[in-house]
Amino acid sequence: MEISCRHWNNILFFVTVVVLGFVQSQNDGPDRPLFGAPGSPIHLSASDPSLQKVVRFAEGRYNTGSNGIYLRRVSKIVSASKQVVKGIKYSIVIELGNTMCKKSAALADPAACDFHADPNKLKTEVCVFEIWDIPWQRKSTILKQKCQPAASSKETDRTGPLPLSPSTPVKEAVNLLSAFKEFVTKHNRSYSSQEEADKRLRIFQENLKTAQMLQSLDQGSAEYGVTKFSDLTEEEFRSLYLNPLLSQQNLRRPLRPAAPPRGPAPPSWDWREHGAVSSVKNQGMCGSCWAFSVTGNIEGQWFLKNGELLSLSEQELVDCDRLDQACGGGLPSNAYEAIEKLGGLETETDYNYTGHKQNCDFSTGKVAAYINSSVELSKDENEIAAWLAENGPVSVALNAFAMQFYRKGVSHPLKIFCNPWMIDHAVLLVGYGHRNGIPFWAIKNSWGEDYGEDGYYYLYRGSRLCGINKMGSSAVVN
Ligand SMILES: *[C@@H]1O[C@H](CO)[C@@H](O)[C@H](O)[C@H]1NC(C)=O
Ligand SMILES: *[C@@H]1O[C@H](CO)[C@@H](O)[C@H](O)[C@H]1NC(C)=O
Ligand SMILES: *[C@@H]1O[C@H](CO)[C@@H](O)[C@H](O)[C@H]1NC(C)=O
Repeated sequence: MEISCRHWNNILFFVTVVVLGFVQSQNDGPDRPLFGAPGSPIHLSASDPSLQKVVRFAEGRYNTGSNGIYLRRVSKIVSASKQVVKGIKYSIVIELGNTMCKKSAALADPAACDFHADPNKLKTEVCVFEIWDIPWQRKSTILKQKCQPAASSKETDRTGPLPLSPSTPVKEAVNLLSAFKEFVTKHNRSYSSQEEADKRLRIFQENLKTAQMLQSLDQGSAEYGVTKFSDLTEEEFRSLYLNPLLSQQNLRRPLRPAAPPRGPAPPSWDWREHGAVSSVKNQGMCGSCWAFSVTGNIEGQWFLKNGELLSLSEQELVDCDRLDQACGGGLPSNAYEAIEKLGGLETETDYNYTGHKQNCDFSTGKVAAYINSSVELSKDENEIAAWLAENGPVSVALNAFAMQFYRKGVSHPLKIFCNPWMIDHAVLLVGYGHRNGIPFWAIKNSWGEDYGEDGYYYLYRGSRLCGINKMGSSAVVN
C-alpha cells in the first residue's frame, strides 16, 4: 500500500511539473497568489537543499533587522513550502534561538556560534517568512516577516536530539518519556525494535514541539498536543491519511453550480441534531477520505429525501470507482460520477470497509441509495452556511496540516500553517455556529471517534481558512 502511494506521488510529481504554468489562475480575492498564474505550492522537507539557502537568507535578514545584541541562528525549520511564480515564492516557519556571539563581533562564520548554553537564557522566537526568490536576477525579497516569542513553558525549551544529550534538563526528559509511555499504552503501539522505538520517540518529541508551536500561534480556542498520530512524521501522516489529488485543480471535473440558497444562513445549524449524520467512521491507513466525505454527504441527502438515515459503503468506492485512486486519493467530483455510473451505493453492512483495495464486489441488487447528479457550491462561506442549513451536510476539502495535532476547541491556525492552495483532505461539513464568540465550522472527520472532539474537528469560520471554502459539493437525489 505504501508503495502504491509512493508510486502515485511520483506520477503526481511528474504531472505537477508538466502542468505548472498552465493551471489557470483562480480569481478568488485575497487568497489569489501575488504573481498571476501560479502552480500549486509544494511542501518542502527540512533537508531540501534549495531551502537551506532561503533559510540562511531569512536568518541574515532577521539579524540585520533586529535590535538584539546577540546573533540568532535558526534552531528548527517548522514547515516550508514553495510555489512557482515569477521565480519562486517560499513560505517558511522557523525557530530562531539566541547564540553567545555578539553581532558586533563581525564573525567570519556565524554558523560556528553556539546557542546559549543556559536554558533560562535561551530565548526562542518563532518566525513566519515569505521570500520571493528570482534566481536569474540573483534577487531575493522578503515579502513578509512576522515573529513572536515561542511559548515559554518548560516543555518548549530546547531539548536537543535524543538520545538525550547531557545538557537536556532531566525533568524535561522524564516528562517526555512519561508522555511517550502514556501514548504507547493508550494507543496500543508496539515497535519492532529498540531502534524503531527510539526513532518514534524522537518523532514524538518533534511533534510535541510542532503542536506547541501551533498552540502558541493559534488564534482560536484550540488545544493541540498528543494525538493518535503523534509518532508519525509529517510525510508518513501525509502518505497514510491524506490525499494529494485534492490540490490538483486541473484534475477536477467541473460540476454544475448549485442553486443559490433561498435565504440567509440562520445564526447556527447542526445536522447532527436533525438525524442526518451517521456515526463517525475510520478510514484507517488508506487515503480514502474522499470516499468518506462523499458517502457522508449522500447519507444526508438520502435522509432528507427519504427520511431514513443509512450508513453507506466507502469500500464500494475504494474497489469500484475507476475514476479515483482507491487508497491513493480521489476527488468527490469523480466519485459522484462513478456512483451514478454504478447505479448507487450499498450499505456499510452489505459492503464492509477493509481499508485496502479489493476486487469490485458491487451488486445492483443491493443498492440502498442512488444519486441523480451533483453540484458545486459557492466559495462564499456565508452562502455555504445558508446552503448547508437548507440542503444538508456538504462535502468539502481543506489543508489538514493542523489536524494531525488537534485535540479540541476551535482551531484557528495561522494561514502559513494552512495554505489554502495545499488542500489534502476531504471531510464533511455538518454544521456551524459560535463558541464563546468564535465562529466555527463543525467538521465530521473519518479518523475514528478517538480523534479530536468525538471524531469531529472544529475550524474557525469566516476567513476561508485552510481552503475550506474551495471545494464544497453535494450529490443530488431526485
Ligand atoms: C493491541 O495490539 C495488539 C498487537 O498489535 C493486538 O493484537 C490487539 O488486539 C490490540 N488491542 C487493542 C485493544 O487494540
Ligand atoms: C460487516 O460488518 C457487519 C457489522 O460489523 C457484520 O454484521 C457483517 O457480518 C459484516 N459482513 C461481512 C461480509 O463481513
Ligand atoms: C434518479 O436516479 C434513479 C436511479 O438511477 C432513477 O431510478 C430515477 O428515475 C432518477 N430520477 C430522476 C428524476 O431522474
